[in-house]
Amino acid sequence: MKAKIAFLPGDGVGPEVLAEARRALDIVAAVFGHSFEIIHGDIGGVAIDRYDSPLPKPTIDLVQNVNAVLLGAVGDKKYDVLPSAKKPERGLLDLRALLGNFANLRPVFVYETLADSSTVRPEVIRGVDILFVRELLGGIYFGTPRQRDANRALDTEVYTVEEVRRVSRVAFELARSRRKHVTSVDKANVLESSILWRNTVAEVAKEFPDVTLANLYVDNCAMQLILKPKQFDVIVTNNIFGDILSDEGGVLAGSLGMLPSGSIGGKVGFYEPVHGSAPDIAGTGKANPIGAIGSVAMMLEHSFKLPDAAGRVQRAITRALDNGLRTADIMSPGKTLMSTTQMGEAICKLIEKSDANYAS
Ligand code: IPM
Ligand code: MN
Repeated sequence: MKAKIAFLPGDGVGPEVLAEARRALDIVAAVFGHSFEIIHGDIGGVAIDRYDSPLPKPTIDLVQNVNAVLLGAVGDKKYDVLPSAKKPERGLLDLRALLGNFANLRPVFVYETLADSSTVRPEVIRGVDILFVRELLGGIYFGTPRQRDANRALDTEVYTVEEVRRVSRVAFELARSRRKHVTSVDKANVLESSILWRNTVAEVAKEFPDVTLANLYVDNCAMQLILKPKQFDVIVTNNIFGDILSDEGGVLAGSLGMLPSGSIGGKVGFYEPVHGSAPDIAGTGKANPIGAIGSVAMMLEHSFKLPDAAGRVQRAITRALDNGLRTADIMSPGKTLMSTTQMGEAICKLIEKSDANYAS
């Protein structure tokens, strides 16, 4: 197949991890005979420096003329002084809104060989396989009014039935191909928006009689994720709760650097590692490219419907970890420390030398 992909490396470690994502895509293209045209664009801090806007016009035009978008990360302290509307993060939020991808999929998978790399005990996390479905275009991130003066500031949490319906349908659909269990997370004991959320999810659940539904308050969910994470299959929740809980998921996976994500529901799929720009380690070779390479696997699966290619990338990641290869964030005694580039190259070699007998 032929596809055009926009690469938006952004700030901090973004360019470093996207370089490895590109390496992986190039190998997949060679192995399977696909042709991926990669076109670079600016977003976040680098775009502010170059165009005085975190989401400049050339990038807006670019993402509307491709088959998928891959983003690195945005943000740097040096932009803290700017008003919210001009910050690097605004570029990311505006891009999400522009593309219309309302369902952000954040799988949290604990690789067997990393079960002892978390601060949570191995017997608690071994076998964890959770899919967060985070609502991405609504809630307090986008609600109006939003205001701030010297004495008072406000943000607005707002959801419509339709916004909740469409994201819950994605969660239930995906649960069907997994363990058929959805946990909806809200704060319905306090928030009106959460009461609407809970009622709407319950309505949607009736369309999926083969999938079970549980409801949890977000504070309880935060605790259960550390206490008994294996109870979860698919977790569907709003924008802000999904943001917070998926970072907690990063602890289970050993590092936030492990987590990939894909946003679907709009015209063009949008993929990005869950980790941020990590300016403190930018340029040191310490960034973990697995979140970005895993995001490539998600792109192959969701945007290009290439499950074989996606599986091959995914298996290569598993094998690299099984071979004891570790970036700094997941390093442990007796393992082999790899730089960002070395890890990317090792995974690519394993994509090339596929082992059909190797279960992922
Ligand atoms: C994420 C990030 C973003 C978010 C920031 C950078 C705007 O934390 O993708 O999880 O809050 O959605
Ligand atoms: Mn986040």
